[in-house]
Amino acid sequence: MKFFLDTADLNEIEEAASWGALAGVTTNPSLYARVGGKLSDFHNHIKRICDIVDGPVSAESVAMSRDEIVRDGRELAAIAPNVVVKVPTMVEGLAATHTLAAEGIPVNMTLCFTVPQAILAARAGARYISPFVGRFDDISEDGLGQLENVVAAINNYDFTPNTVNGEQVEIIAASIRSANHVTQAALMGADIATVPFGVLKKMVAHPLTDRGLDAFMKDWEKVQNA
Ligand code: E4P
Repeated sequence: MKFFLDTADLNEIEEAASWGALAGVTTNPSLYARVGGKLSDFHNHIKRICDIVDGPVSAESVAMSRDEIVRDGRELAAIAPNVVVKVPTMVEGLAATHTLAAEGIPVNMTLCFTVPQAILAARAGARYISPFVGRFDDISEDGLGQLENVVAAINNYDFTPNTVNGEQVEIIAASIRSANHVTQAALMGADIATVPFGVLKKMVAHPLTDRGLDAFMKDWEKVQNA
């Protein structure tokens, strides 16, 4: 499993990149708003992220028609070679993805919740599909169960001929709320988990690690004083 950071915060991205396990970044309009992002600075901000991260950086189109999404997508893709255009899973989004993929522009289809949506995204040529876990849980449904269905269904077929440059479509477990979400997504074979920085920090931590470290430090003090 690869890890993407689900944030537009440059400090978080720099810190996570220094840990050596950061394979990419996903942003969305809400995450950009959260860091006080301005429309006029959006492309520059995405460029700054692309300069930090050695991997795909998803930048979302907020357009609603296929022509506008395609126009947005071309502009976003021109920012840096590692930009992936994020497109919502809807009819206009599928049509735009089909066009962008034919032009060799990688697309991450977002706001994907069901197996039929995921299959349509893959058929349209999406390079990445992002099934949301936490938002299902938020409405008292089984987000992990839905993700498992998407992973199983996508792995039943070979979508390679549809995707950009003949690369295999990859599933990004998105809307991740906990380290356990990551564990379960890895066990079911999701290719990538995109996680908020808070979850990434929780993934490193364990009380037994802390307890063990504490004991080692105390015993080492004894050695020094012996
Ligand atoms: C995915 O790419 C989205 O940016 C993200 O995972 C949404 O997560 P949320 O439900 O926590 O907003």
